[in-house]
Amino acid sequence: MTSQPRVLSGMQPSADSLHLGNYLGALRPWVQRQSEQENFFFVPDLHSLTSRIEPGVLAERTRKTVAQYIAGGLDPEANVLFIQSHVPEHAELAWVLSCVTGFGEASRMTQFKDKTAKGGADQANVGLFTYPILMASDILLYKPDAVPVGDDQRQHVELTRTLAQRFNSRFGEVFKVPEASIPAAGARVYDLQNPTSKMSKSSESPAGRIEILDSDKQIAKRIKSAVTDAGTEIRFDREEKPGVSNLLDIYSSVTGRTVAEAEEEFAGKMYGHLKVAVAEAVVAEIAPVRERALELLADPAELDRILASGREKARAVAAATLGDVYSAVGFLRAG
Ligand code: TYM
Repeated sequence: MTSQPRVLSGMQPSADSLHLGNYLGALRPWVQRQSEQENFFFVPDLHSLTSRIEPGVLAERTRKTVAQYIAGGLDPEANVLFIQSHVPEHAELAWVLSCVTGFGEASRMTQFKDKTAKGGADQANVGLFTYPILMASDILLYKPDAVPVGDDQRQHVELTRTLAQRFNSRFGEVFKVPEASIPAAGARVYDLQNPTSKMSKSSESPAGRIEILDSDKQIAKRIKSAVTDAGTEIRFDREEKPGVSNLLDIYSSVTGRTVAEAEEEFAGKMYGHLKVAVAEAVVAEIAPVRERALELLADPAELDRILASGREKARAVAAATLGDVYSAVGFLRAG
């Protein structure tokens, strides 16, 4: 047994590459704190079925996601890395939790509302509606202390806390009530072409996205074409200057300087200077991750070995929790 706090988190394999928001909002904070914690990081492939995905690409995207976790700096020996669909307890617990979730409560999840507002309710499937309940299962099975995520997942972690408390008070103390852990900078990276919307794997145009597996040239080009704002002053102001503020936030997150320090550095300079500096800083951070990810992907058997070992460890924890849940709700247990 370890006395370190336990954390759990994951990223959907819904694209070939993670983007800069995934990296700054989640992967880098995971890596930075890994040695202080007991870590479970997984790839929520069941979640990816909520959007239309070609069956032929999912397995490869799942491997690519794991490769980027490791390339970003997660130690595959010290951490438990696994795939959601390898651990059937996630889907099993989701059923139980769906029976303690109110329909109205699930309807209030903003991510569902946003996605249906864009595509219309007929475009959405029931899985998209119940997705936060599956996410709550992912978390509660492992009894983590903290869930390190970007800001957009805050409401889902809140729901997880509510469901854990409700289950515990109805059936007895089974779950730990986890905290969301959200980084100070980079918690919400915005789209470079539309800087009032978050950078997303599913946004229509890739021009606003920086992908980890992009070439240096492509990354620099996207940053240099980023939409900026009226005026010339380089100042952090999300309302009046969303484009410039996004670039300053990215710069601050990548370089470790505060936004105030960055504002000072660019005082009196032009938007073009800021873009060049952001592009250089981002390329310096991302290029080694891309290189390493490509190396790892050249040896899929080694990735599969890591995942097989992660599966064993994850299942042991998940099966014990699900057993406690089944006993608590009063199922007749198999002898
Ligand atoms: P996903 O795959 O959309 O994103 C993975 C992680 O990246 C963060 N993130 C961002 N951070 C900053 N700026 C952005 N533009 C940005 N876009 C994404 C997300 O907050 C997240 O931390 N539902 C989750 C996956 C999931 C999960 C879980 C996470 C399923 N089960 C259990 C934690 C615990 C999702 O779709 O994240």
